[in-house]
Amino acid sequence: MSLPIHARISGTGSHLPARRVSNEELAARVDSSDEWIRTRTGIAARHFAEPGTLASELAEPAARRALEAAGVHAGQLGLIVVATSTPDAVFPSTACVLQARLGATGAAAFDLQAACSGFVYALVQAEQAIRAGRVRHALVVGTEVFSRILDWDDRATCVLFGDGAGAVVLSASDSPGVLAAHLHADGSQAGILGVQARFEAGRVEGRAFLHMDGNSVFRFAVRVLAEAAEEALHTAGLTADRLDWLVPHQANVRIIEATAKKLGLSMERVVVTVDHHANTSAASIPLALDEAVRDGRIRPGHHVLLEGVGGGFTWGSVLVRM
Ligand code: UT7
Repeated sequence: MSLPIHARISGTGSHLPARRVSNEELAARVDSSDEWIRTRTGIAARHFAEPGTLASELAEPAARRALEAAGVHAGQLGLIVVATSTPDAVFPSTACVLQARLGATGAAAFDLQAACSGFVYALVQAEQAIRAGRVRHALVVGTEVFSRILDWDDRATCVLFGDGAGAVVLSASDSPGVLAAHLHADGSQAGILGVQARFEAGRVEGRAFLHMDGNSVFRFAVRVLAEAAEEALHTAGLTADRLDWLVPHQANVRIIEATAKKLGLSMERVVVTVDHHANTSAASIPLALDEAVRDGRIRPGHHVLLEGVGGGFTWGSVLVRM
């Protein structure tokens, strides 16, 4: 009888574009202030890509770092899943562009759209492909150039987001790496966050800018992030005190603090990066994960809970043993 195949994170990587924009710099062009942004969101700065930079261009260095950390060659990849709401083009997928950039000729490649939950959604697709025995190594990327969909006349949203990319390599393993995974969606909440634009007869119809009802999103996020965390812990048979690290979607430090409080988790065990890269949507969780892996906070054997929430609405959690 063959042993079950498990999926483990074998490497992480990330990339931020060089241009760092502080709250003060932003407040010079938007009717806002460092004080408002900091106290309401915990954000101090974000990185913006140069105009014309594509999601695949941010993804490539993040992916290369993850592959290097995993000791996996691009040619060994069987699958590439890219989570993004700001793809290079309608099609081909950003994942196919990345596949060519990496020379990962043996890998199937597709994009996944679940807004800020995209990374956890993508991780689950890759995990399932590995557990089914179809793929030995998968690359999962979250990459965003949100700066291109920000309305600089809407101070309630344009100060909240940034650009960046994060990646993990997921590899087949004899021992469990993913201990629990849950994905959810509620399309009835589609109206509170989105970019309501589409192509029609060669034109863009609708507003090609992000819009958000911040208060509704805030309340929704706090509720479902606590629920998703409890669900994952329950499935894995763990209590919150067995969790080494929570790596939540980085949208607002107040949402993160409220989630930690509901779980009875000290903020010392929560990875927070929203202060220096703001909300990078599908990239935020792998960016935060990679930072904490590289600075030595997250170590092999640690129980780490990744969880996201975003437009759709979508949300989900993945509990991993590193
Ligand atoms: O990835 C998931 C997507 N996003 C999120 O998770 C974000 C969720 N929502 C939030 O983080 C918060 O709701 C915000 C940060 C967006 C807003 O914080 P808030 O504490 O809910 O503020 P508010 O929307 O209730 O606005 C309070 C005041 C308003 O002024 P008045 O009406 O009280 O005079 C706003 O006009 O703050 C004003 N305001 C600003 N002032 C300075 C809104 N944006 C700004 C700004 N600078 N950038």
